[in-house]
Parts: sequence; structure tokens; C-alpha cells
Amino acid sequence: MTAIPDRLLLGPGPCNVSAPVREAMAAPLLGHLDPDFLAIVEHVKASLRTLFGTSNAVTFPVSGTGSAGMEACLVNVIEPGDSVLVVVQGVFGLRLANLAERYGATVHRLEIPWGTALDAAALAAAAKQARPRLICAVNGETSTGVYQRFDGFAEVAREHNALLLADCVTSLAGMPVAIDDWGVDLVYSGTQKCLACPPGLAPVSFSQRALDRVAARRNPVPSFYLDVGEVMKYLDGSSGARAYHHTAPISMIYALDAALAEIEAEGLSARYARHAAAAQALIAGLGTLGLEPLVAEADRLHPLTTVKLPPGIDEAAIRSALLTQHGIEIGAGLGPLAGQVWRIGLMGGNACQHSVDTLIAALRPLL
Ligand SMILES: Cc1ncc(COP(=O)(O)O)c(C=O)c1O
Repeated sequence: MTAIPDRLLLGPGPCNVSAPVREAMAAPLLGHLDPDFLAIVEHVKASLRTLFGTSNAVTFPVSGTGSAGMEACLVNVIEPGDSVLVVVQGVFGLRLANLAERYGATVHRLEIPWGTALDAAALAAAAKQARPRLICAVNGETSTGVYQRFDGFAEVAREHNALLLADCVTSLAGMPVAIDDWGVDLVYSGTQKCLACPPGLAPVSFSQRALDRVAARRNPVPSFYLDVGEVMKYLDGSSGARAYHHTAPISMIYALDAALAEIEAEGLSARYARHAAAAQALIAGLGTLGLEPLVAEADRLHPLTTVKLPPGIDEAAIRSALLTQHGIEIGAGLGPLAGQVWRIGLMGGNACQHSVDTLIAALRPLL
């Protein structure tokens, strides 16, 4: 096998994963209908419910990365001509809008400046115009470092009989996510961020309201692979009968099971507090270099900090030196923030003072 260098992954994901999670991937394979494997699947589903803060029966890992989770949520509930309101405050809001359009929706983009968050009053005003059947927003916008609160969003959705969707790819297991309390109907995440697992699975959850919308469709779901009804024929063991749908990515499920066990052992509030403390330490460390965060304190996404760059520096050269001289990866700005910010991820086990000290010590001479 080609030699793989050691890196400290402080970009927007993936992050480093623990030895037990890596070792889980090397465990002997089981068949996807083996009762011992299905017991692991059931355990993973139950742990994901806890993580999402939901009692939704239909909670499972989609076989694919976070974008597959995004598609799984959209493709099941959108029908051609549906009005969909998307809060666009960064790259992943844009992607949601783009995908909804691909599935035939009439998309209304509620654009706000990148690096800011939206309140429910602004959402309500936009919904009055759009009369949506679906409202989408990104809880943890990895392109800007904003943690978008969902307070009052469900009330807006209910007023229009719309479903509410949340992208929790970067927030899940790093900051509070409580989809039942928030009234969220559709949620997806990805394993490579604060779950501290390799990329390859997208935990999702569908509320009963979302499932009722799927059941009332006029047309079949235009994807076989992501059709929640088809997938659940395999993943829902409650009737005792399970049918083949696709071959589950066995080793990835082992890894997720191991990662979830680590999260359970730490406890969610301790994990959130650790991510918050690491982000605070990072901002303090960056301050000693004269660098300031982009996002106002109340709206910061702790697992991903965007930091403003001083004018005149060759930011790409510095990132490259960090990687080649120090083995540290950080992320560039995207879209309108390209060249304006760096994106520094402190996710999973990397959310600690040691990562911060290592990065700041490496950055100081480069700046
Ligand atoms: C907020 C957000 N949504 C969706 C995605 C898409 O996930 P993936 O790259 O795993 O397909 C990402 C990935 O970075 C993300 O950060």
C-alpha cells in the first residue's frame, strides 16, 4: 500500500479519528443480513436517535457522504412544482437550493450575508411570500462558521403546513442538536465531522410528518437508492422480515458504531463543552497573532472557526507550508470568503488545547 503521511486535520473535515474507530474498520466482515450485523445496525440507529434528540423511528445512516443525506431528505419529499424556501447563508444553503431545483421544486432563496444568522421574523416574512411546502436551513454552515439557531422556525413552517429541514453535518455531536424540540422534520449529517469517523455515512432522520408527506406523493420517489420506503424494507427490523435493498457498507457501520460508543462514553454535554472550550482557546490563540474571528460570538459554530486574514498575505502559501512543513491541514475560504478567511476545524478528538497550541506555534513564524 502507498505510504500515508501523518496529518493533523484541522480543516472543515474530515478530522482525525481514534485508533479504536480505525481498528473497527479492520474487523472481519459479516454479511449484511447476518443477525450479529443487524444487531450492530439497530444499536447504531438507537444511538443516532439520542444524538439527534429524537424519537423518530426512521433514523438511520444513509450509505454515502453528507451530500447523500441531503439528497435523501430532499428527494423523498419534493415533487415537481413544490415551493421550497431555502435560507442561503453559505455554500451548503446554495447546494440545498440547487438540489431542490434539480428535483423540480420552485425554489425561493432567502439570502443573508455570509457569516450571519437569521431570525424567525425574517423567515416568517419570506415564507409569507413563498408559501413553501418545505423550509430548509443549515444548522452548522461549514463555509462561514455560523451556528444557525432554529428558534421559532417550526412555528413558521407549521403556519404554512410546510416541512422543516436542518443540515446538521457540522453541528451534530459538536453542538446541541435537538430536532424534536426544534420541530425539525428532516435532518441529515455526515460522519467525518464531530462524529470523528471517516467520511462515508450520512445519518438522517424523518419525522412522522415527513413520512406522511412521502406516503401522500403523487409520483414515485425518483431515486431507488435513496427512497426511504425501499431502504426501510432492509433497515426496519420491527416486523421481523428484512429484504435486501443494497449491500450495507459493513466496515463503515462498524466504524460508526465505535465512534458512537466513544461519544456515549464522553457524554453529550461534556462533548459540547469541550468543543466550545477548544473554539474559545483557538480564538484567544489567533488573537495573539493579531487575527480576529469573522462571526459574532453568539452565532459561532464551535467546531469550525472562520478567521479573517490580514491584507497582503499569500494565504495559500501559508496553508501549503502548514501542510508540508508541519503536517497540519486547515481550510481555505469559499465563495465570497475565498482569500478573506481561513476555516479551522476543531472536531471530535481534535477539539482540544493541544491542537490549538500546535497550530498557533506553527502559524506564528509563517505569519
Ligand atoms: C454543512 C454541510 N452540509 C453538507 C456537506 C456535504 O457533505 P459531504 O461533503 O460529506 O458530502 C458538508 C460537507 O462539508 C457540510 O459541511
